[in-house]
Amino acid sequence: MITPQTIEEIKGRIKIDEVVGEFVKLKRRGANLMGNCPFHHEKTPSFTVSPAKELYKCFGCGKSGNAITFVMEHEKLAYPDALRWLANFYKIEIQETQISDAQKQQIATTDSLFIINSFAQKFFSDRLHNHPDGQAIALSYLHQRGFNDATISKFQLGYNPTLRNELANQLIANQFNKDLLPRTGLVVLRNENEWVDNYRGRIIFPIHNHSGKIIGFGARVIGKADKAPKYINTPENELYVKSKVLYGSYFARQAIDKADECLLVEGYTDVISLSQAGVENVVASGGTSLTTDQLRLIKKYTNHLTIIYDGDSAGVKAALRGLDMALEEGLDVKLVLIPDNEDPDSYVNKVGADAFRTFINRNKKDFILFKLEILLKETGNDIGKKNELVNQIAESLSRINKAEDFTKQQAYIKQCAALLKIDEGGLITLVNKYKRDKLTKEEKKGNQHLSNTFVSDGPPPMATPEDFGEPVEHSDTEGLLTNQDDKYEKNILRILLEYGINPWGEQLTIAEFVFAELEGFHFDNPQLEQLLVTYKQAYQAGEQPTTKTFLYHEDDAIRQLVINITLFPYELSQRWNTLEEGKTNVIKDTSIEDVSQSINYYKLRKLKKMLDDNQKEMENAPMEEQLTLIRIHKELKDMERALTAVFGTVILK
Ligand code: CTP
Ligand code: MN
Repeated sequence: MITPQTIEEIKGRIKIDEVVGEFVKLKRRGANLMGNCPFHHEKTPSFTVSPAKELYKCFGCGKSGNAITFVMEHEKLAYPDALRWLANFYKIEIQETQISDAQKQQIATTDSLFIINSFAQKFFSDRLHNHPDGQAIALSYLHQRGFNDATISKFQLGYNPTLRNELANQLIANQFNKDLLPRTGLVVLRNENEWVDNYRGRIIFPIHNHSGKIIGFGARVIGKADKAPKYINTPENELYVKSKVLYGSYFARQAIDKADECLLVEGYTDVISLSQAGVENVVASGGTSLTTDQLRLIKKYTNHLTIIYDGDSAGVKAALRGLDMALEEGLDVKLVLIPDNEDPDSYVNKVGADAFRTFINRNKKDFILFKLEILLKETGNDIGKKNELVNQIAESLSRINKAEDFTKQQAYIKQCAALLKIDEGGLITLVNKYKRDKLTKEEKKGNQHLSNTFVSDGPPPMATPEDFGEPVEHSDTEGLLTNQDDKYEKNILRILLEYGINPWGEQLTIAEFVFAELEGFHFDNPQLEQLLVTYKQAYQAGEQPTTKTFLYHEDDAIRQLVINITLFPYELSQRWNTLEEGKTNVIKDTSIEDVSQSINYYKLRKLKKMLDDNQKEMENAPMEEQLTLIRIHKELKDMERALTAVFGTVILK
């Protein structure tokens, strides 16, 4: 493990514009630098690097982070490897700590499993080419299916002979750890001490991780599977975690990068056939519905996923269900069905690579619309069913919650409303209702758990006139109240993060002033409340927290939240803007008003909400409680008046 001292040294040396500049051509624009985003295709630069804030954000695709996460994302590296990359970049010598026995054990286990798998793969390849059955039965079957020798060797296909323990004997003779052998799934222990091959008489498909090491195997019967299962797969172990496996990703990586698209098929043979035909940006899910982990892996390579299934595949509907989470991940998902009982493997063999590509490009459909069409066919004229369908689609659409996907959501709503033959405004209302339900549910959970989905950066998905700068009456607090409130809470956090440690008059700091003002108030958004508490604790522990303190926080959610807050577009006071432009971090006396103004905005908003809640309660409460509620109402009104008066003076100045 890299020592904390080294990590600190690396962080101290990082200049984000230098690091990003290694990969992206940046041009200075004011305090920031701009360039074409390396994470999505664009012609006009929307990728912004702020050297002062030590962060980057793309206003096109929404990717954001610090220099370390940039290296992680861009070079597809894990955190420690990104640190090593940066250490090398800045010529910093890395100090490593001693690792614990448990860690040593863990590393030893995974190393051994890799070694056993690699040994087995060589054994299987050898048997495919040199064993009489390998040649006569296995190799000829592969040839007959159209796989050529170059392909067979690229994918390291193999054969396990039918004798009881050929592989087992070799593994034992080479003194591999007997405790580990059962976990590989290659052999099983029978009758106390007989080791027996598990994949007898099968063709072997090695499964590689993204760097090309073998994590497991799929073993297919040769020809039709009548009695035995068609495939036997490696059991879950330290290397093979089914939910994270994308077969073929090692071979597809570069092609996916180049095409900026990942094709997803069901089977090993589909990947291999397509790759042989020259369609190389393809991976397989292994026949089950997609997991969130797999979607995240794909998102590391590209934002464009095209799923290719057989027309009659039972998997289609299951996959559709799983795909709603792709919307949350902001992944752009398209779907194509292969016609006439073909699968991608047989279809590409039949029509050839060019026709295959053309077919995919002509027929791929946005998965939301695809889903809608399939479901529409089932509903017919049944009003009840159609109602259900409208709700289902609205629920799916409500999951699009990244600000940068706002326009996409609008477009979907338009198209879906047209297909469903319903009013667009009605669909918008319904989508908002689902969004609100979800927010309320998360709030109710009262979880102190930070999740990205909750924080929408940029305008709330259904922007109100107010969000475009038009004044509206505040009495109507229906609608996206929570999102609306967020911005006042966020603004206070932003002040704390950026200016909190600066002096406030002679005695206090801005942070201390804010703490005092907020005494007794709690933020409605549990995540923001948690950040406030975390900030306060750090401050009170004497840490002098700033944006940077949290920008490198170990918790990804906190990092995201802080970036979100620092960059979020609402500016309540013009003066804060000028302050930033002026590149100074010194708060002038005049800005004191801005701090109080931001707090007053927040309090006023909060009061309105309390008034509203109280009002609702009054409508339902029994007589004997009415008096208390009226008193509360009066008190709140008084506070509101007092606050508005303060506003008046500030604004008039
Ligand atoms: N699969 C599995 N176990 C099974 C059947 C299927 O693990 N008993 C997984 C495999 O990963 C397989 C994928 O589901 O690759 C797709 O199944 P299928 O289309 O039946 O297999 P293919 O690999 O496409 O084989 P073939 O083209 O030879 O039928
Ligand atoms: Mn198949």
